[in-house]
Amino acid sequence: MVTTRWYNLGRADVKNIGMKTYKEIEGYFNFYDLYDNIYNIYKSKENVIFVELGVWMGKSIIYMGNKLKEDKSNIKLFAVDNFVGSQNPNPKGEVQITKKVSIEKYGGNFYKQYNQNVIDCGVRNYIIDIQKPSLEAVNDFEDNSIDFIFIDGDHHYNAVSKDFKVWYPKIKNGGVMAGHDITHQGVKRALEEFCKKNNIDYKLVSKSSWKIKK
Ligand SMILES: C[S@@+](CC[C@H](N)C(=O)[O-])C[C@H]1O[C@@H](n2cnc3c(N)ncnc32)[C@H](O)[C@@H]1O
Repeated sequence: MVTTRWYNLGRADVKNIGMKTYKEIEGYFNFYDLYDNIYNIYKSKENVIFVELGVWMGKSIIYMGNKLKEDKSNIKLFAVDNFVGSQNPNPKGEVQITKKVSIEKYGGNFYKQYNQNVIDCGVRNYIIDIQKPSLEAVNDFEDNSIDFIFIDGDHHYNAVSKDFKVWYPKIKNGGVMAGHDITHQGVKRALEEFCKKNNIDYKLVSKSSWKIKK
């Protein structure tokens, strides 16, 4: 399990350069208050695990990574991404890759650029990358092991429905599952169905985000 095996590898022997800030990184981050609130709730707790599913160029996870760095926090912050974009077909049946043009610019896989951003922002030692598709990465976590997950991966209905189904059992009782872009029809429909099926409620937070307390 990555949650135990990687604990000692997370703070690898990487020099923190710290020349850039998250503000200079391309991305979709507009959930600052959610990240601030979550961090404040968990910062003084023990054995805390955070996951961001879908990190793109790292903007939002670097923001959280900075908080860990400022406090020399022991929170384990995992970045899950396939680093090749969404592979789901769009309504025309074409394979759609998120930000196709940008991804092509990086030769089809943008991990190198993401990693460089993390290094340049000085938080390499505070983020543990899992370079896998969501449905594979989830197997690296034990049930009831995650305190907070932010789901910002594939926004297509089928994909996000599966993400909710497989990641929810990984969250501790009392933990939080949240995500981005409820304005996307696929996300909204999947979330409403998931909540109805499990008899739970979600709250709207941070502009276009949502959260569920387990
Ligand atoms: C909207 S971006 C994330 C933005 C980022 N959180 C931010 O605020 O800047 C979506 C990301 O999800 C990733 N993604 C899409 N489908 C995925 C999958 N099945 N497994 C893992 N990552 C996936 C894409 O590669 C992309 O980096």
